[in-house]
This record gives sequence, structure tokens and C-alpha cells, in this order.
Amino acid sequence: MKKYGNGKSSAKIIWFGEHSVVYEQPAIALPLSAVSVSAQISFNENNEPSRIYSRYYDGLWRQLPRELAGIKQMVIKILSRFDKADQAFTLTIESEIPSERGMGSSAATAVAIARATFNLFDKNISRNQLLQYVDIEEQITHGNPSGLDAATASSKWPIWYVKGAENMQLDMNLAGAFLVIADSGIKGKTSEAVANVSDQMTTDYDKTNSIIMEMGQIASAVPPLLLNNDIDELGNLMNANHNCLRQLHVSNQQLDKLQRVAVLAGAKGAKLTGSGLGGCLIALSDSAQNASLVAKQLEKHGATKTWIQPLGQF
Ligand code: PMV
Repeated sequence: MKKYGNGKSSAKIIWFGEHSVVYEQPAIALPLSAVSVSAQISFNENNEPSRIYSRYYDGLWRQLPRELAGIKQMVIKILSRFDKADQAFTLTIESEIPSERGMGSSAATAVAIARATFNLFDKNISRNQLLQYVDIEEQITHGNPSGLDAATASSKWPIWYVKGAENMQLDMNLAGAFLVIADSGIKGKTSEAVANVSDQMTTDYDKTNSIIMEMGQIASAVPPLLLNNDIDELGNLMNANHNCLRQLHVSNQQLDKLQRVAVLAGAKGAKLTGSGLGGCLIALSDSAQNASLVAKQLEKHGATKTWIQPLGQF
């Protein structure tokens, strides 16, 4: 066993296919190494009680707030696997991932903690094992998670995701491309947005279903573009996907404004990401220089924070 166990993970964004993924259409999600979370765990000496240090809560493990109940169950399960359920520990979490912005903060944190705990025991953890442990946390935190957040936070590659099917890691060859991620400053509203779309499916099935199908076709056209470095067409598809999401009424004025600002600043395309009604916008640039110009313009027009993710490293 080691003195300290360390684990890392990252935020995720949905690049294509939010909402349509609920209706069995494919989605493409991307891990963002530029926005990371790390965890460190060590066992306590001298009968010190278990403690956690994190952005939300610093204090005794036994007084952990309800929001962290999922993390608690997952850690108990992992320690039990190593027959150490009664061993006191100190867990430190450092996260750059904003919560409730569709960036998968809870799943990424769980991935980092599970990796850190296995690392403490000097054991490797397979991706499947990792997903099973993280699912314990996500079930408690989110009720009925699609699994997309955990699948992406545990991957180094973009993910092709179809609900109920095994997810696939996608190859990508986007040498000079950059993704700008901008926080609109408004919390995303996942359950409200998903319920909105479901209502539209009931009241206006034909129109709503044809938008969902169009988003499925857009996502299906993406994998060859990732391989062929076709940044222009990827940008066009992002704009088209944003337009579909607008028609589903899950965008808002601020996201629409930021989408226009990004394109006017020279981005190849831009769209909201995640549930919508708030959360983040993503924009595709074909150079580092353009990405920082787009980020600056987005901040000037109200984005509260921006990140730049190079896409060439995948
Ligand atoms: O904003 P997020 O990361 O919670 O994404 C929601 C994505 C939806 O497609 C709208 C819902 C889902 O469960 O996939």
C-alpha cells in the first residue's frame, strides 16, 4: 500500500446530440482535460477521524452534507472491497469544474476519487470497474443517470454514446482545432429542459420527432469529419444542431446571443451544450489565436468564464 493515493479526471461536454440522446439517437461527448478535478486519499494515523477537504465542504466525513451522499456510498464500497471499511482516512478534492453547468462535475469527481483509492492500494482499476463504482455515486446524486457523464469522464477520447448500448471511443484527427467553452453564468436546468421536450413530444409529435431525427442525423455525420480534420463542416453541423435545440425551446436569449457572438468572432460554429436553459456554450476555432479572440468576445458579452480545449491532443 502507498502513503498517498492520487487520481484525476476531467469535465465533459456534449458536442452533439443532447436531448435527442434521450430518444435513442446518438450523442458525441468529449472529455475536457483543460478543466480537471484531482483527488488524494491517505489513511489516518493516531485514531484521527475521517475528514474531507473540498470546495463545498471541509470537515468530518461523518457529517458529510446530503449532496455528497453518493460519494460517501461509493467510497465505503471501494474500501470494503479492500477490507478497510473501518479505516479512517483523509480525502482532499481539488476541482476546477463548475457545478450545474452540464460539465459532469459529480461523475468526474467520483472518477478521480475511485482512481485515487485504487492507487492508494497500488491496484489498477479497469474502465468497467470504474464505471460500476461511479454508477453507485451517480444513481444517488442524479436518480436516473444516462451514464454519459461517467463514460466521458473516464475516457481519454471522444465518446459515441447511444442510450442502452455500449459506448464507443471515437478516433479523432483535428490537428489545429480548438474548442472554446463559455459559462453563460446561468445554471443549466436538466430536468426542466428534458420535461419540456417530452411535453412537446406529446403535444406535437410530428414536428418534435422530426427535429430529434435531424439531430440524430447530424451526430451520425460527425465521426468521418473528426477523422478528416473537416473543421468547416463540423462548425456548420454545430450551428445546425444549435438551431434544432432552439426549435425545441431549450436555448435562451443569453445562449443565442453568445452563439452569434462566437460566429461573428470567426468561430467555425457554436452551439449550446448539455441540457440548455442555461449552462454552457461551445465554439469551434481553427487556430489558437482565433480561440482566444472568441473567448474574449464571449466574456465581453456576458460569459462568466471561458476555457480553451486544444483538440489536436486527442
Ligand atoms: O446538462 P447535462 O450534462 O445534464 O446534460 C443533459 C443532457 C440531456 O440529453 C438533455 C439529458 C440526458 O440525460 O442525456
